[in-house]
Amino acid sequence: MKDKIHWVDHPLIQHKLTLMRRKDQSTAGFRQLLREISTLLAYEVTRDLPLTRVEIETPMQKMQAPVLTGKKLCFVSILRAGNGLLDGMLDLLPSARVGHVGLYRDPDTLQAVEYYFKVPQDIGERLAVVVDPMLATANSVIAAIDRLKNAGARQMKFVCLLAAPEGVDALHAAHPDVEAYTAAIDDRLDDHGYILPGLGDAGDRIYGTR
Ligand code: PRP
Ligand code: URA
Repeated sequence: MKDKIHWVDHPLIQHKLTLMRRKDQSTAGFRQLLREISTLLAYEVTRDLPLTRVEIETPMQKMQAPVLTGKKLCFVSILRAGNGLLDGMLDLLPSARVGHVGLYRDPDTLQAVEYYFKVPQDIGERLAVVVDPMLATANSVIAAIDRLKNAGARQMKFVCLLAAPEGVDALHAAHPDVEAYTAAIDDRLDDHGYILPGLGDAGDRIYGTR
């Protein structure tokens, strides 16, 4: 399993995730914790961004200093729960572009149904970091990545908060070229495709809709 997904086991993330899972966590608390964790996950997913050196002048002398180079970044949120990860990531990378893929899971078939798609025209020249808190069956993220590849995306990563082993396997089988990151790999899916022990429906908990 660990060769198919990066498990980000930082103690701050693990502690905050436990607070989020608790069923008595408030909507405001859940949203704030997700924002904080997403900043920490963004730090990890950008770990191998390429650097170059440019000459700058400090108050003391000139030096060759490192700056980011190469492809620019685009976050792609899988609506609606993916939006809960965006702001914390944009805090760290404020000039990143943002795309949106609107998908919902049909509750009977668990297949992803698309209702919206908008990404930057030059998505093929960017690293696309697809974000969604939940990787359950993986039908949603597989559909999102299929759609992004059709739109020209060539380099992608995926960041989630919680993953089910079934989803990790399915994503890796469908898109082995996409590196995935998660804060936790839970036990399994229930009969309705929900992650156990999980945290419930991420969208409902972020937006307080149930
Ligand atoms: C949730 C979640 C993922 C999807 C994961 O979205 O945010 O997109 O389910 O499940 P999967 O891996 O089995 O596809 P949902 O369909 O509930 O929509 P929402 O974000 O609009 O609430
Ligand atoms: N989507 C969620 O929001 N939660 C789950 O446990 C599975 C899919």
